[in-house]
Amino acid sequence: MGNNGGLYALTEEHEAIRAAVRDIAEREIAPFAAEVDADSRYPIEAQKALTAAGFHATHIPEAYGGEGADAIATCIVIEEVARVDASASLIPAVNKLGSVPIILSASEELKQQVLPSIAAGRAMISYGLSEREAGSDAAAMKTRARLDGDSWVLNGTKAWITNSGISEWYTVMAVTDPEKKANGISAFVVHRDDPGFAVGPKERKMGIKGSPTCELYFSDCTIPADRIIGAPGTGFKTALRTLDFTRPTIGAQAVGIAQGALDAAVAYVKDRTQFGTSVGSFQGVQFMLADMEMKVEAARHLVYVAAARGEQGGADVTRVSASAKAFASDVAMQVTTDAVQLFGGAGYTMDFPVERMMRDAKITQIYEGTNQIQRMVIARSLLR
Ligand code: CAA
Ligand code: FAD
Repeated sequence: MGNNGGLYALTEEHEAIRAAVRDIAEREIAPFAAEVDADSRYPIEAQKALTAAGFHATHIPEAYGGEGADAIATCIVIEEVARVDASASLIPAVNKLGSVPIILSASEELKQQVLPSIAAGRAMISYGLSEREAGSDAAAMKTRARLDGDSWVLNGTKAWITNSGISEWYTVMAVTDPEKKANGISAFVVHRDDPGFAVGPKERKMGIKGSPTCELYFSDCTIPADRIIGAPGTGFKTALRTLDFTRPTIGAQAVGIAQGALDAAVAYVKDRTQFGTSVGSFQGVQFMLADMEMKVEAARHLVYVAAARGEQGGADVTRVSASAKAFASDVAMQVTTDAVQLFGGAGYTMDFPVERMMRDAKITQIYEGTNQIQRMVIARSLLR
């Protein structure tokens, strides 16, 4: 398959993974989703169930004790978990986001130090790029790292870090040479027990309330010199290359949320009676369902194409990944909003899951780069 013609094929193994994850999601994750949201608590049941079944970090290569699952398989896991609980789907998604920089660029020793613990489910890992004043403009970060003998010493604050406090490991981007701007940023691995590291209070959010989002504080945080990922100055490129591989996973999360809302809406309109008949018998309702189905299916295919393109080494992977993330997340917002509409007043209450899905969908248009940034990346690629 060429760079522009690469498609994908779903194998029997992919379908088996979907069936297995759906079973776990429905039996062991869905029953807690409403409570996790209402109480803003971490979905520990999901972490345990996913870890027991080996679905918490399927992407880790076999050489480091992982399953070595391909990118589509990882998307399927995230999609099926997100179908019932978007917060819980950030367990496999962020384990991938935090570890891809290491898989792509770290020394063999550092890979051996970190990846087996994630593969075995003994540890999780987060990804620290953003800061309060450097979100979309990530290269404007201020967190500094300087070499001091055999150690790197980090100072600064990262913002909005998913699964903070839960994760043992943190991939952190920091400036090592301010003169060089983006090419003066390096990537490091920090452990939560490292001296000078602390996690801030949880943000109070609109959605994905089960996934803790916090600041990370570095006050002369001292880590061994060999915890740098790759050479000094390569950290920003590693961070952006990582997003080429992980924006499809956010697309998968969005597809899962949208599918969950569509499934709930279909069941509801069949059951709900008005004017002496089921509301699903009205063409005005049927056409909405048809549009929702078309969008979800199109988004799913684009997500799988983007996931496969990363592994095929397509030159256009940056553009296709950005397209998949933006398209799928816009679809998730539209479809969840329409699902609330199809539930009528009931959809606006916490008695049904669609209002949570609508709140959860919103974040997929914002994180891993806002959808304006995705459109900027797509357009830059077209005009280059
Ligand atoms: N892969 C490798 N290198 C890349 C790259 C890629 N995809 N894209 C750019 N680069 C290189 C460029 O070639 C350039 O290198 P040279 O100077 O050697 O040519 C360097 O990186 C800097 O690139 P740009 O000049 O394009 O950088 P920029 O400052 O204009 O910013 C940006 C680019 C696309 C706006 C980037 O800052 C960006 O993606 N911003 C959004 C931030 C983001 O996505 N954050 C996500 C945080 S994670 C998250 O939210 C968590 C979650 O989902 C749970
Ligand atoms: P800003 O950059 O301030 O953007 C404000 C608005 O301006 C947006 O609409 C934006 O699209 C628009 N805008 C900005 N620049 C442009 C432009 N050039 N052209 C057009 N429009 C533009 N980050 C991590 O590193 N790790 C994480 O684990 C993580 N998890 C997150 C979890 C949550 C719940 C949230 C809310 C955020 C998380 N983030 C994480 C941060 C996330 O990636 C940023 O919030 C996002 O990239 C946007 O940055 P910002 O919030 O500073 O918005």
